[in-house]
Amino acid sequence: MSIRPITAADTIAVRWPILRPGFPRETAVFDGDDAPGTLHFGGFDGERLVGVASIYLVPFPAQPDVSPAYQLRGMATLPEVRGAGFGKALLDACVAAAREHGAGLLWCNARTSAMPFYEKNGWQTVGEEFDIPTVGPHFRMVVPLVDG
Ligand SMILES: CC(C)(COP(=O)(O)OP(=O)(O)OC[C@H]1O[C@@H](n2cnc3c(N)ncnc32)[C@H](O)[C@@H]1OP(=O)(O)O)[C@@H](O)C(=O)NCCC(=O)NCCS
Repeated sequence: MSIRPITAADTIAVRWPILRPGFPRETAVFDGDDAPGTLHFGGFDGERLVGVASIYLVPFPAQPDVSPAYQLRGMATLPEVRGAGFGKALLDACVAAAREHGAGLLWCNARTSAMPFYEKNGWQTVGEEFDIPTVGPHFRMVVPLVDG
């Protein structure tokens, strides 16, 4: 297993089938994918890309004064590698990169189905459940990086 920087275009191969199945390819392209501060990571099993995660310089709505802050988006692994640690390794890479860039926190809109994954990795839930149309119920989650 290895985690390496990838391009925005590379992420689509995993993002599209896992996070936007049945929707057009362009729905897997996110605002800010090519912004200067955005970072994309790939999880590789040998040379095969099996997981992706991206972080974007976006303030956390619940703590807009914390700057810089990164938003995690596009966290996904292929079903056949789930439970093998790629998700955790990608999250760790995102946390490390956010710290390296001086961020005070890393946050995300977590699908309720994925909340246990984030909780296991030390993320905290903030606020009430909300719906993202076509995607489903979410909670905001955050990991403070104050020790970084
Ligand atoms: C959420 C996701 C990225 C986790 O990836 P993964 O490759 O399975 O993650 P890991 O193998 O590193 O798992 C880490 C731990 O979290 C647990 N875990 C992972 N997903 C979980 C889930 N949905 N519910 C409960 N536990 C989960 C694993 O069992 C593992 O536990 P362990 O450390 O006790 O063995 C993956 O399931 C996925 O792509 N899901 C579909 C897309 C999605 O929901 N993305 C998140 C959008 S917010």
